[in-house]
Amino acid sequence: MPKEDSHILTLDRKVEKLRLTRSFESSQEGRKVMDEVFDNLTLGAIFKLTCEKRISSVDFPVSTGKEGNVFRATAPDGTFVALKIYRTSNATFKNIAKYIEGDTRFKGLTGNPRKLIYAWCTKEFKNLNRLEQAGVRVPHPRRFLKNVIVMDYIGDGVMAAPQLRSVRLDGPQKVYREIVRFMKRAFQKAKLVHGDLSEYNILVHEGAPYIIDCGQAILTDHPNAIDFLKRDVKNVNRYFRSIDVKVWSDETVLRYVQGVREK
Ligand SMILES: Nc1ncnc2c1ncn2[C@@H]1O[C@H](COP(=O)(O)OP(=O)(O)OP(=O)(O)O)[C@@H](O)[C@H]1O
Ligand SMILES: [Mg+2]
Repeated sequence: MPKEDSHILTLDRKVEKLRLTRSFESSQEGRKVMDEVFDNLTLGAIFKLTCEKRISSVDFPVSTGKEGNVFRATAPDGTFVALKIYRTSNATFKNIAKYIEGDTRFKGLTGNPRKLIYAWCTKEFKNLNRLEQAGVRVPHPRRFLKNVIVMDYIGDGVMAAPQLRSVRLDGPQKVYREIVRFMKRAFQKAKLVHGDLSEYNILVHEGAPYIIDCGQAILTDHPNAIDFLKRDVKNVNRYFRSIDVKVWSDETVLRYVQGVREK
């Protein structure tokens, strides 16, 4: 057997051991998700993450989406982590190319789909880092490798934190203000606009909002940055208005986020 094949076989065996302990493993749906996501390259990345002692087991899928899946995994110290794994398919490539294109941090990237997906993971990881440093509450990013991002898991031993849209908030006004503040810190300190902010990409854990899904976040000097910001503001205001929170006007939030003084 060629060396490369035997290497992959060893990886397969090791990851097979790691692979899912629970009943999910034997369900038909479970198999399908696993087979689809865990191509050889991804298996290699997961294997490396276990060697590096970033994870000790992959537990179960938290979410299955168009471009990738999120799994709960456990680290050797017993803490939970979230693995966000992007599919290395052409469909994913097409969807993300438009975001990478105008980003000065990714100048000169070739049209190689796999490389672009890896770059996308790098971008999501870097965005999370910058946002965290700017004081935005995001899952702490731990590592990225190829098409996999390892970050803190938001939730507890029972379940992952729910999305904002399915939570009844105790203090909705306070949460609204905090999210607007996060947009401001993102814009002014991290120089980033989220670009897909809504009740779907905010998790609520112990009453506190966490901003997630930061792969598409773009720099404030991107030609579409202000349009994206307007959309984010509109989404957040629309959602909070729908749950009877008194919100600022879109224009007031926009000015506040950008640090533009009222006339
Ligand atoms: N760090 C995390 N801890 C707990 N759950 C998470 C974490 N990150 C993501 N999730 C869960 O996985 C879902 C999908 O994550 P995310 O929004 O980052 O990916 P996505 O690419 O938008 O996927 P989708 O197409 O399904 O929206 C989230 O809505 C959330 O339920
Ligand atoms: Mg999402």
